[in-house]
This record gives sequence, C-alpha cells and structure tokens, in this order.
Amino acid sequence: MSLSPWEYDDMVHIGKDFASREVVKAYDARHRRLRDVDKENEAVIAALGLRGDHVVADIGCGTGAFVLMAARRCAKVFAIDISTAMLDYTRGRAESEGIRNIVYLRGGFLTYRHEGEPLDAVSTSLALHHLPDFWKQRALNRMNAMLKAGGRLYLMDVVFSDEDYERTIPAWIEKVKAEAGPDIAEDLMAHIRNEHSTFTWILEGLLERAGFKIDDRILSDGAIARYFCTKTSSRD
Ligand SMILES: C[S@@+](CC[C@H](N)C(=O)[O-])C[C@H]1O[C@@H](n2cnc3c(N)ncnc32)[C@H](O)[C@@H]1O
Repeated sequence: MSLSPWEYDDMVHIGKDFASREVVKAYDARHRRLRDVDKENEAVIAALGLRGDHVVADIGCGTGAFVLMAARRCAKVFAIDISTAMLDYTRGRAESEGIRNIVYLRGGFLTYRHEGEPLDAVSTSLALHHLPDFWKQRALNRMNAMLKAGGRLYLMDVVFSDEDYERTIPAWIEKVKAEAGPDIAEDLMAHIRNEHSTFTWILEGLLERAGFKIDDRILSDGAIARYFCTKTSSRD
C-alpha cells in the first residue's frame, strides 16, 4: 500500500536496528538479565483473561516471548514486527517447540492491516515509542479497530510519569546499570536521546481518545508504564 507524501513510514526503523540475528540474540539475552520476561507475560495473560478460544496479536513482538506463551494458551496469535530478523527468531523458537498456531507478519503499527476475525486482545510491549506522538494516536486507533467490542489491550513501554525527570531518569539508569550491566544502561540512554518515549499524561489521553478505558495502570521508576485497557468505543 502506498503512503501519501505526508505519512510516516513506520517500516523504517528508528533507534536500535534489529536487522541481524546477532543483534536479535543479544537483545534477547540482555532483556532476560533485566526482566523476568516469562513472569511478566504470565501476569499479562492472566490479567487479560486469555483462554483457548481467543485470537490475539502482539505488535512489535521482538524475540517472541509473549507470542510463544500466548500461542500455548490461545487459538491463534498474530506475531507482527517490522524486523524480519525478529520474526525469523520467533519462528525458529516456535518451530523448535512444535508450536503451529502463529501467523508471522512483517508490518508496523501503521502499515499492518488486520483482515479476518476481530481480535480478543492486542499486546504491545516496548515498541510504541518508535512512533512520534501524533502517529501513536493513529497506531492506537488502528489497535482499537482490530479488536472486538470489549476486546483488551495491554500496552507496556518506557513512558515518563515524573515531571522531576532530571532526577528520576539518572536514578533509573543507575539502577538498571547496577542490576543488569552497563550495556543495557547504554541502550537506555540511546533510547531516551533518540526515540519517542512520552509522558504518561499524553499517552493516557491518546488511549482514551482511541476508544479505550484504562482498567489498570502500573508505573515503575518514573519511566516504565503498563496499561491494561478495554475497548469501550469503536474507531472503525
Ligand atoms: C525493544 S523491542 C521489544 C520487543 C518485545 N516486544 C519485548 O517486549 O521484548 C522493539 C520491537 O519493536 C519493533 N518495531 C520497531 N518499530 C516498529 C513499528 N513501527 N511497528 C511494529 N514494530 C516495530 C522492533 O523491530 C522490535 O522487535
């Protein structure tokens, strides 16, 4: 599909380029030092109430931790990412476990067009910050349109919740450095400098305008936000 000259091309990555298998493997290993990814995803699946007849999508699926866990619990999972290397990595993991109910799609928040049955849930973690705020609104509108009435959205990202960021951001970077090492701290600093993480009060306005009710919000370190939402009005 061709873009108008004023439209943002989200197939062009910004920030860290996940173009090679080496970068992807390194990402997976680093994040497993920083986060208990499986515990995170267990909690998300429970909070969203995902079950065996559900169809879900993960946008910016990365190395597939959520996709794989959701595929073990749900009927079908759409794994969506702009990075072919990420999708290949996810596919390799799924094949080695004999998981076959995943559909792999190269696409972005703005370029992916969902066809077929409306979804029960959409998840996206550490990915929406790739878009500037104006385009985040369009992405959230698209997520709303993919969902059934009452469908659920989980959104996790680097989102700033403290206006005293001159203090909270350096404290957060130091904490990450102490817990997970200097390479992740470097990644974080590059993220803050070059990518499009925004404030909670902006993102929450965007979520509400996109037709979502925020059911639950978990904030940590003034810099991480997790939102559990329900589609309450329709953008399609
Ligand atoms: C930091 S990784 C997060 C991966 C995974 N969701 C996680 O929580 O570990 C960001 C992912 O978003 C993907 N991405 C970047 N821009 C995107 C876009 N516009 N639409 C969809 N995915 C995008 C990247 O290729 C990468 O796999």
